[in-house]
Amino acid sequence: MAVASLDRKLSVLILHGPNLNLLGLREPGIYGVSTLAQIDTRAIELGRSLGVEVTPLQSNHEGVLVDTIHAARDCHDGIIVNAGAYTHTSIAIRDAIAAVQIPTVEVHLSNIYKRETFRHHSYLAPIVVGQISGFGAYSYELGLQALIAHLREGTANAGDRSRG
Ligand code: DQA
Repeated sequence: MAVASLDRKLSVLILHGPNLNLLGLREPGIYGVSTLAQIDTRAIELGRSLGVEVTPLQSNHEGVLVDTIHAARDCHDGIIVNAGAYTHTSIAIRDAIAAVQIPTVEVHLSNIYKRETFRHHSYLAPIVVGQISGFGAYSYELGLQALIAHLREGTANAGDRSRG
């Protein structure tokens, strides 16, 4: 796992899973009207304002997502993942994140717990730092802020943070 150091910029990978390339067109009542390009641009700008390099990647293919997580060991300090439907099915993506041990935040545009019961279970939730679900495109910005705070402060979650 890459170690966050003070002498170089933090680098965060944003990984989008299947069907998220259709954001903007896809069920806008559930997922909103922002396109993936708009979400990525906002995340890159937020990263820049916080001194963090943000690299987005979308794939509809489970193996590509697994390969990208493996490759992240060499170049990224943290991962934001919206695995789309693979959230609810993919032990392979879960195992890849667990294997590389890169701090990862799971995000969802929709609140998966308010939807069909098959969306209530996430294979990723037990092995990520935390999960943000239900804030539309803003989930990514919240996730990125939380991940950066985690990487910089080295806390397990916000509740562990001691101030003062
Ligand atoms: C999603 C929720 C998943 O259940 C769904 O399959 C998606 C998107 C979300 O961002 O709300 O593709 O991950």
